[in-house]
Amino acid sequence: MTDQLNLRPAEMADAENLFVWRNDPDTRKGSHNSDEVIFESHLAWLEASLDFPEQNKPEKNKPKQRLLWIAEVNGVAVGTCRADRVENAWELSWTVAPEARGKGFAHQMLSKLVHYFDEPLVALVKVGNIASMKVAERAGFVLKQDTEQEGDILLYTRRPS
Ligand SMILES: CC(C)(COP(=O)(O)OP(=O)(O)OC[C@H]1O[C@@H](n2cnc3c(N)ncnc32)[C@H](O)[C@@H]1OP(=O)(O)O)[C@@H](O)C(=O)NCCC(=O)NCCS
Repeated sequence: MTDQLNLRPAEMADAENLFVWRNDPDTRKGSHNSDEVIFESHLAWLEASLDFPEQNKPEKNKPKQRLLWIAEVNGVAVGTCRADRVENAWELSWTVAPEARGKGFAHQMLSKLVHYFDEPLVALVKVGNIASMKVAERAGFVLKQDTEQEGDILLYTRRPS
């Protein structure tokens, strides 16, 4: 039986895991920005991404522009997904912890995540990232072939179900 994967909102306590996963060589290869990040800028990025309530006070009603989750199996963090607000859609991206890859967790994360949204979704996948192409397609994304591709990036879209 497949272990049950759970998605929960990310928090500052996840900084270390997210940092290690972000700087993993295969993650960097699959990312649009493949630069290695330093811990201080990672912390600043995470703080801003989590949109702390105290920072948020003046604009309490402003909808969030970024949502970040941690995927857990039996209480162990195995990956992360992110949603960034873009024009008329949410852009999804995902990473599985290096030690947890190849076990179907990306499939499980994405198939759960897409049902949180009732708006169009997009995903940008690097050419050659076969695992992510499969994951996107199985979660209902369709490769958009009628638009000009940006370099080595494939554009996937998904309509709300
Ligand atoms: C891409 C990534 C998320 C896949 O996660 P995963 O949990 O290992 O994926 P799964 O086990 O759910 O496998 C998904 C599919 O890809 C295949 N696959 C897994 N790793 C693969 C690899 N290195 N090469 C080719 N296919 C691969 C699996 O066999 C599976 O195929 P199936 O649908 O035919 O069964 C993970 O490798 C990762 O985090 N990579 C670095 C970050 C990244 O590239 N993120 C995506 C940015 S869009």
